[in-house]
Amino acid sequence: MKKVVVVAGALLLGSSTVMADQKLAVEQDNFMRGIGKAVYVTMLKMSKGELPYDQAAVDAALAKLETDVPKIPTVFKTNPKEQVVNASFGASKKIWKNKADFDSKVKPVTEAVADLKGKIKDQASVKMAFDTLNDKCNACHETYRLKLK
Ligand code: HEC
Repeated sequence: MKKVVVVAGALLLGSSTVMADQKLAVEQDNFMRGIGKAVYVTMLKMSKGELPYDQAAVDAALAKLETDVPKIPTVFKTNPKEQVVNASFGASKKIWKNKADFDSKVKPVTEAVADLKGKIKDQASVKMAFDTLNDKCNACHETYRLKLK
């Protein structure tokens, strides 16, 4: 229903710039979920002993963070102007009002990732890595991520 109204509004105004972009919203959400999997599945579950410690999986998770975290400012360059249908989390409009501040929350995460390379070797150190990263991820989430349900 909401989507129908949005499309009708865009047609009325005859402009594509007001059209909300579900595809972009989904892309942004999936991108963040990929990052989330490395930290909240691989690292968190290993740190709790819910998954056996696996060096190759830890290294792959860190490599994923190393490539993806620096892309956050580009992936969130454009406001999709709508939330992913049925999503639990969404992007706050504040991102595009304070883009420089949003982007500044990325550097502490990339620095932490670089610092952790070669230092995660067992369950105790993966727990330490999780705690370090989680704090820095949340420093962005607390302002710029919305809990939708
Ligand atoms: C610069 C800001 C920023 C940083 C840093 C950041 N995130 Fe996010 N994250 C967001 C935003 C904005 C959303 C909501 C996006 C959406 O759902 O469209 C989000 C959503 C998420 C979600 C929920 C996805 C879903 O819909 O289920 C997870 C999981 C997540 N982030 C994990 C992480 C992890 C792990 C890190 C740290 C390694 C991290 N994020 C760092 C901004 C950030």
